[in-house]
Amino acid sequence: MNIKIAPSTNPPKPEDMLEYIKELNALDVDYIHCDIMDGKFVTATTFGADITKKIAEVTKIPLNVHLMVKKPKDVKQYIRAGASIVTIHLEAFEDIKQVIKTLLKIAKLGAIPSASIKPNTPLEKLWPILGYVGMVLVMSVEPGKSGQEFIAGTLDRIAQIKKKLGELGLDDVLVEVDGGVNNKNIADIKKTGADIVVVGNYLYSAVDRGEAIKKLKK
Ligand code: DX5
Ligand code: ZN
Repeated sequence: MNIKIAPSTNPPKPEDMLEYIKELNALDVDYIHCDIMDGKFVTATTFGADITKKIAEVTKIPLNVHLMVKKPKDVKQYIRAGASIVTIHLEAFEDIKQVIKTLLKIAKLGAIPSASIKPNTPLEKLWPILGYVGMVLVMSVEPGKSGQEFIAGTLDRIAQIKKKLGELGLDDVLVEVDGGVNNKNIADIKKTGADIVVVGNYLYSAVDRGEAIKKLKK
């Protein structure tokens, strides 16, 4: 199966974002990956539910919301804004019970619950919540900004997650990879069995964005 592509929402000039999303409508992309940063979980701040709604107004491409937010409480506003997948970070909460509670809330509100894991968080922290998610977002850079280099050790982590999902009979759970994805590392990422890749800098900086997508999908 072809890998799915999820362009992210941090073009170098934030004021260009909605125009960039409109351009994506004409390309062969599968999701829009909305990077929500709160200035607490990560240093940078991006936007919230209001702008997410504005994105939903200019595209029919499903929105995949990545909450780089400390203890996100109000997941409802993102689902109301049009998110079909909502990702929270394992590291954003003090204990696993709060993670599970939030994942159940996302599911109850009608979106696909998803959990993300940062590069240095032990994978064992992810295992207890696999039964509650429809997607796992594997960070291949430290969350916080676009344009960083893909951490090579992520390939083995993705393979281990896919293996664990198989052992648990959870093969339907999607695995998305976020950070530093480009035409040079895509073949190795595909070998791990990942389902979706996020692309930021690779696509913003491409001269021909249609060609850039083709290179990832072929
Ligand atoms: C990183 C964000 C990513 C970012 C990816 O904190 O979560 O979604 O936009 O951008 P690139 O592909 O440039 O690493
Ligand atoms: Zn992201």
